[in-house]
Formats: sequence, structure tokens, C-alpha cells
Amino acid sequence: MQAKVTEIARDTYRISTFHPDYGMQFNQFLIKDDEPFLMHTGFKGMFQATLEGVTSIIDAANLRWIGFSHFESDECGALNQWLGVAPRAQALCSFVGAMVSVSDFADRAPRPLADGEVLQTGRRRLRFLSTPHVPHCWDAGLFFDETEQTLLCSDLFFQPGDPEPVIESEIVERARDAIKGSLTGPMAKDMPYTPYTGSTLHRLAALQPRSLAVMHGSSFRGDGGEAILELATVIKDLLSKP
Ligand SMILES: [Fe+2]
Ligand SMILES: [Fe+2]
Repeated sequence: MQAKVTEIARDTYRISTFHPDYGMQFNQFLIKDDEPFLMHTGFKGMFQATLEGVTSIIDAANLRWIGFSHFESDECGALNQWLGVAPRAQALCSFVGAMVSVSDFADRAPRPLADGEVLQTGRRRLRFLSTPHVPHCWDAGLFFDETEQTLLCSDLFFQPGDPEPVIESEIVERARDAIKGSLTGPMAKDMPYTPYTGSTLHRLAALQPRSLAVMHGSSFRGDGGEAILELATVIKDLLSKP
């Protein structure tokens, strides 16, 4: 496996590895700043490919922060390998994530973030948003780069296959097709519809992102707020009823 690196916003790099067994991309995002920040580690088995991608941008030993949305292997499976190559690196996750999984799993203590807490990495301000069960899991959270207005949106806007790095239209249509395609089958029911799903998505839309950094599929450049509102309608239509 080899990672493809694309700068999707200023100093924001998409490190994309297509996994043929899953038939989808696993995209990590590196924000290059005084304190470099990596969103998702990828699987343990993907570490070498991701490391090569990161090393093409920065000295991996200087990585400072490792953020992710929720405790799953594609989000943080390679965390300890990263902590091994980057001596100052530390995981960032929700309070629930730290208490339930990461404090025990990680070789170095994580830094739990409160809802709305801001992390200054140098020039960039990253705001953490606690988003329980969006996209899924109790511990879920997302990061918003307020400086470049990029929402690192984990599994939201999931698209299968190996599409292009960035698109400027059709993101909602693709996400709708993917959700429809995942309503049945062994991997169905990945996203619960809870009493908080709609308000959480509206809160994300109000951030008015200019870019959406998508973990599986193409990233999006354009009116991210509008795209999230449209996605909220799709999710309600397709997932709120049995
Ligand atoms: Fe996930
Ligand atoms: Fe994922």
C-alpha cells in the first residue's frame, strides 16, 4: 500500500491510502504548523504507508498532536506506533474517549479535551467539538480548524471506492448514495439516529466550513455549512425510521 499526498487547504495535507480489501480509502490529515497535528492514525497495518506520507511533509519525529474522532482501529489503531516515532506526540480525544479507552490503550497519557476547547498549534486554532454518536460511538468528537475553516469530519460524508482527492460539488449526492447502500448487509447500522443528531449537525453547519476533510472519500471545497445542512436532511430521511 502506498499513500497519496494532496494539499487540500493551506498547509493541510490529505494522506490517502486505498485499501483493496475494504474497497475504500483511509485518509489521514496532517496540519503543518509549529506543533504539527495529525487527524487519525490509520490502521496499525497501514502505519508504514502513512509514515512515508507524513515524512514527505515534515520530520515525523516532530509530530506533536494526534487527534481522532472515536476509538476504532482506522481512527487510532496505529497510535502507539506514532507515539514511538514522535517522542513529544500526545493523543487528543474527548473526555469519554480518554476515560473509556485511550488512557488504558495509549503508551503515553492522552490529553482529554472539553467540548469547545481550543488548541493553538502555532498559527492555527483548532476547536474540539464533542459530538456523541455523530458519526458514531459515545466518545465521538470532531476538530474544526478555525484559521483555515476546515472541518475534520471523520466518517461523515463517507464515500466508497478510490475517488479524487478534492471535489467542489456532488458531495451530498455521493454521501446519500453511500448511506442508501449501507442500509442493509453486514456493516449496516453504523450511524445511530439519536435525539441529538439533528442539533449536532446543525451546530457543525453553523461553523461555516470552507473545506470538509473526509476520512473515506473525496474532500470537499465550497459551502460546507450548506452541505452539512443537506446531509442532516438526508440522514434524517434515511436513518431516523426503522
Ligand atoms: Fe468510525
Ligand atoms: Fe473511519
